[in-house]
Amino acid sequence: MAILYDKSGQRITLHTRTTTYQMGIGPYGHLLHYYYGKRAEGDFSACLSYRDRGFAGNPYDAGNDRTYSLDILPQEFPCYGNGDYRTTSFRLKQENGVYGCDLRVKEVRVEAGLYTIPELPTVYAGTKEAEGAETLSVILEDAAANVEVTLRYGVLPELDVILRANTVRNIGKHEIVVEKMDSASVDMLHGDFEMIHFSGRYGTERLMQRTRLGEGRFTVGSLRGESSHQHNPFAMLCAAGAGEDHGLVMAAGLLYSGNFTISAELDQMGQTRFALGVSDEMFAWPLAAGESFTTPQAVLCIGEGFASVTHRFHDLVNHHIVREKQPGALRPILLNSWEGCYFDFDGEKIIALAEEAAELGMDLLVMDDGWFGKRDDDCSGLGDWKANEKKLGMPLKELGRRIHEKGVKFGIWIEPEMVNEDSDLYRAHPDYAFVIPGRKPIRSRYQLCLDFSRKEVVDCIADRIISEFRDVPLDYIKMDMNRSVHDVFTHAPEWADRQNVGRTLYRYVLGVYAFIERLHEAFPDVLIEGCSGGGGRFDLGMLYYTPQIWLSDNTDAIERLQLQYGSSFVYPVSTIGAHVSAVPNHQTGRVTPLVTRAVTAMAGTFGYELDPARLSAEEKTMIRKQIQRVKQFWNLTHDGLYDRLSAPEGEWNPADGTHDPDYMAWQYTARDRSEALASVVFIKTHCNAPTLYLKWKELDPDATYRLHLEDQNRELPEAWQLPEELPAMTGAVLMEMGMPLPYQPGEYNSLLIYAEKAKDGQG
Ligand code: DGJ
Repeated sequence: MAILYDKSGQRITLHTRTTTYQMGIGPYGHLLHYYYGKRAEGDFSACLSYRDRGFAGNPYDAGNDRTYSLDILPQEFPCYGNGDYRTTSFRLKQENGVYGCDLRVKEVRVEAGLYTIPELPTVYAGTKEAEGAETLSVILEDAAANVEVTLRYGVLPELDVILRANTVRNIGKHEIVVEKMDSASVDMLHGDFEMIHFSGRYGTERLMQRTRLGEGRFTVGSLRGESSHQHNPFAMLCAAGAGEDHGLVMAAGLLYSGNFTISAELDQMGQTRFALGVSDEMFAWPLAAGESFTTPQAVLCIGEGFASVTHRFHDLVNHHIVREKQPGALRPILLNSWEGCYFDFDGEKIIALAEEAAELGMDLLVMDDGWFGKRDDDCSGLGDWKANEKKLGMPLKELGRRIHEKGVKFGIWIEPEMVNEDSDLYRAHPDYAFVIPGRKPIRSRYQLCLDFSRKEVVDCIADRIISEFRDVPLDYIKMDMNRSVHDVFTHAPEWADRQNVGRTLYRYVLGVYAFIERLHEAFPDVLIEGCSGGGGRFDLGMLYYTPQIWLSDNTDAIERLQLQYGSSFVYPVSTIGAHVSAVPNHQTGRVTPLVTRAVTAMAGTFGYELDPARLSAEEKTMIRKQIQRVKQFWNLTHDGLYDRLSAPEGEWNPADGTHDPDYMAWQYTARDRSEALASVVFIKTHCNAPTLYLKWKELDPDATYRLHLEDQNRELPEAWQLPEELPAMTGAVLMEMGMPLPYQPGEYNSLLIYAEKAKDGQG
């Protein structure tokens, strides 16, 4: 049993394989939080302390007892109005403007299996490691405020995760308004914590940031209508100084792709409250009698060190979030037309690309932006989802057929949520776009957002796209979104005269999910890749609908090391869209060896984004080998354990006296430790440099591993070429001392090292 309800002790304990979460019902019916940490038996209620703290409100039921205050006690679902002045997770407004509520436990229920939430993505139990999945529902009520709240805790014991979501229901006769409702909140009684989050900008997403918490509140989030390039709905609260293998780490992610907030507050008593949910800014959800509202789902996980949390999230995403017809199957290695042609192509050019792709051993040709409507640049055409046969020189169906004839699959780009003012759709339905009447809208990339909170708008776009693709031999869709949402105004009849930005933006996200579900229903065998100008909507929610997402429009192999590093904390290799592009790189002008571009892209779904006609014969030979190698190592890279072997900011670097590493490295290891693959990319070079050591992880310490160099920069002078076989070493030596890395002159070289357990007596 993962969930234990001790009625006499009024205690509820959730056990996973290595963690324990405990809460209890206080003497007056409040739901208090007792513990979340390593697996432990016992009654943690004994750890709460009761003292009169002064200026701390006491519930009326406590009589003259000044030691019982919800401003001090740890809580499961802190709400405004019960005397807690810290960050609260729930704020309710009555019809007459009165705020606040005071929730008390009414019922506790334990059921087998996991719960789902209508219209929203949720973690599913699946088959792998699903044994023992259970759901706890704690029902709270404040009859005076006419409200009932159900807290849900799904437990996947083998994965060490707890799945939180909350539902509020109006049990009175009058309208109430929910102004804030988090998905999860965890109080830590004491500790010195850092919050780790992943921030960035367009072209530079998910850089790891560490912030030591001081008294007060630290908040990150998005108000852009999408999860955003700037912040990611995933963060970790960790013991100060925690590293890959040490220090308590609590990770939390939201299965939601819109506005969100993640906050950590260190209070006056040194307690820390970590909470996440839909952003409360401009949020106000009215509930008529009997109506309810449910938050998106949050995933909580605790581990020792970052690596343990990463391993769990990777398994969770691969086996319990992403929905694939053939789980784990090799994803198609693609050639995308964007950086090769941008808007400048016709059907014959696309067919020529397909021919080259097939010849190089790729599986899929993706025709990116520019195939529809009047779309020779980004100023017009969005919304007109009809192939431009004049530009293509043939119908879409024929193009698909001819691409298939070349021996590769066919993929197409769409951007369904957007419209250009210069489009037939906008001319016919200006009210479909977010524009505030009487105002000129804020433009971004010359486009406006469609009101996907309205079902008729979602249906209109879905109908058009589905009918356009109906007879086309299509295998893949890239679904893009190239601006943040603004000028939120809905013409939905029931809301037109009482605008509600938060509600509209929430419904917008649900509209996006509903749209993708329609695509899945219409084209069950088509693979859909998510994208938002690169990684502007790279989150756990989108991964439920699109198993892979384009990581970033930045294809520079060296810059990508940092983006992939940050993303790797939660998102597995199978979800990360990564391509080899041409040099000089289109975003940075940097020139990197082809081998390094491939080593970097191998930490993702792998593909190319260049014009093969411009490649030399030697480069083509290398690409053919790279593709074979990606296929050969697919199981290892996509289902093995992923470990970061270097940190972008970390240990002191003796070579130049900085804390910037000379190289970035990561490792994929088979679950049975029989083989592993390490990727090393050198970022800096020095004269007479100290030897660099690569410390491997997860190997069998007692086994001997044969080390084979899979790839290196063959453009280096003969003298620097390395033998393919390196001296064999035991797992213990590789992990404890580390392998001395051969010196490679110049910047941006890389090594791909395969370690294979030697059979007894060999090596
Ligand atoms: C942004 C995407 O991230 C690119 O890959 C490309 O598809 C362009 N949009 C096309 O407009």
